[in-house]
Amino acid sequence: MNWETLADYPALSTRAASLLLDGIRRDPKLVLGLPTGNTPVGMYEGVIAECKREYHCFRDVVAFNLDEYVGIPRDHPGSYYMFMQAHLYSHVDIDDKNTYIPNGRAPDLKVESERYERAIRNAGGLGLTVLGLGSNGHIAFNEPGTPFESRTHVVALSESTRRANAAFFLDQPVPTHAITMGIGTILESRAIVLLASGAKKREAIARLRSGEQSVDFPASALWSHPNVLVLVDEAAARGAGS
Ligand code: GLP
Repeated sequence: MNWETLADYPALSTRAASLLLDGIRRDPKLVLGLPTGNTPVGMYEGVIAECKREYHCFRDVVAFNLDEYVGIPRDHPGSYYMFMQAHLYSHVDIDDKNTYIPNGRAPDLKVESERYERAIRNAGGLGLTVLGLGSNGHIAFNEPGTPFESRTHVVALSESTRRANAAFFLDQPVPTHAITMGIGTILESRAIVLLASGAKKREAIARLRSGEQSVDFPASALWSHPNVLVLVDEAAARGAGS
């Protein structure tokens, strides 16, 4: 696992954006795994700014979202579909048919999970996956206790995760379930970049850096992957031995 500590959130975002764009320059048909949450917003802004200059960045790129809530309409302001439209897709030249997100309203979520896995495989597998980090160590929506070999599946969200996302659900309770790529799905990505920013990620970063590998701490599965880069800002790294 490689680590880079950046001075602050803007620097972390700039670095993440350039890694993503370098990946696309090397392989214009890159298959991405993409996160939601507050942390990647700055990265997406950096990507959009750069793509305004070279407006063909995403023409042949394929993107799979890590996760989506179960049971809310696609156009609900809290949906990850809407997040991706607002923060990336509506600003770049990605082809709609190349953007994938689990359908949390599918009549049979098990069939939907299998369909999602198949779509990733048919696209040639994930080339570069960017991850955020839950303060309890979750990656995508894989909460503590998720087996490291898990594939795309439905999860019950922990109370802390539901609370952390409450701001997006002012008109209704935060969904209780989500559909998420599994840890095993993520580990098959050829390269992985994990982003963590701010003091509230400090404990999770310290635990990740300790090298402990346990299903109680989902991000620790990344230790078994040969090509992981962790980008942290100083606020997240402080006290974590950097
Ligand atoms: C949600 C997402 C995760 C994300 C996490 C952290 O739970 N499903 O993919 O990593 O939030 O979010 P933030 O970046 O806002 O701290």
